[in-house]
Amino acid sequence: MITALSLIVAVDAANGIGKNNGLMWNLPADMQFFKETTKGHVVIMGRKNYDSIPEKYRPLAGRTNVILSRNTVFEAPGCLVFSSIEDCLANLSLAAGQQAFIIGGAQIYELALNTGLVENMFITHIDKTYGADTFFPDFNQNKYEKTILFEQSINEKHEASFKVYQYTKKH
Ligand SMILES: NC(=O)c1ccc[n+]([C@@H]2O[C@H](COP(=O)([O-])OP(=O)(O)OC[C@H]3O[C@@H](n4cnc5c(N)ncnc54)[C@H](OP(=O)(O)O)[C@@H]3O)[C@@H](O)[C@H]2O)c1
Repeated sequence: MITALSLIVAVDAANGIGKNNGLMWNLPADMQFFKETTKGHVVIMGRKNYDSIPEKYRPLAGRTNVILSRNTVFEAPGCLVFSSIEDCLANLSLAAGQQAFIIGGAQIYELALNTGLVENMFITHIDKTYGADTFFPDFNQNKYEKTILFEQSINEKHEASFKVYQYTKKH
């Protein structure tokens, strides 16, 4: 059973996270941060997010991949599928030191935030607006302590600057 969740997301300056079921930016340092942070852990994603991952990269390597879909016959190679978040949280168990990371998209972020179990969030704030059609849901910022982890400036590999923050739930 899972009783606490972590969450990881990158948002643009308008809180946008995606467009046409895909990402809107190519920021290798953020991609690397995502990989390092989620490596060895459980990643929980919506079916549309799963669909958006290029076939050669899925399931995401070195992680337990979990997909939420209301379609009870949906299957994906190497992934676990659940048809509700309650079912998912009740049936998954974590190894010592393992965390369950909510990795989106918007519908799944919203579901997770509504459980009240999100203890820890890693949010990359990108200093550019990309014209998204999908947005990270509003959440109560007062409930979280925010600390900066690192920042990236514009350079030949990064078309936009960004800052990565950790949000830890206050108790
Ligand atoms: N910037 C970032 O960090 C980031 C991260 C992840 C994703 N994204 C972007 O986000 C977008 C996708 O987000 P999205 O909100 O459209 O889709 P999503 O959250 O990835 O997936 C939605 C799907 O999840 C399933 N679902 C939703 N609620 C459910 C529930 N209560 N119980 C069981 N299953 C449920 C449904 O699958 P079925 O239709 O199969 O029933 C639904 O169609 C893409 O553009 C992607 O690139 C961005």
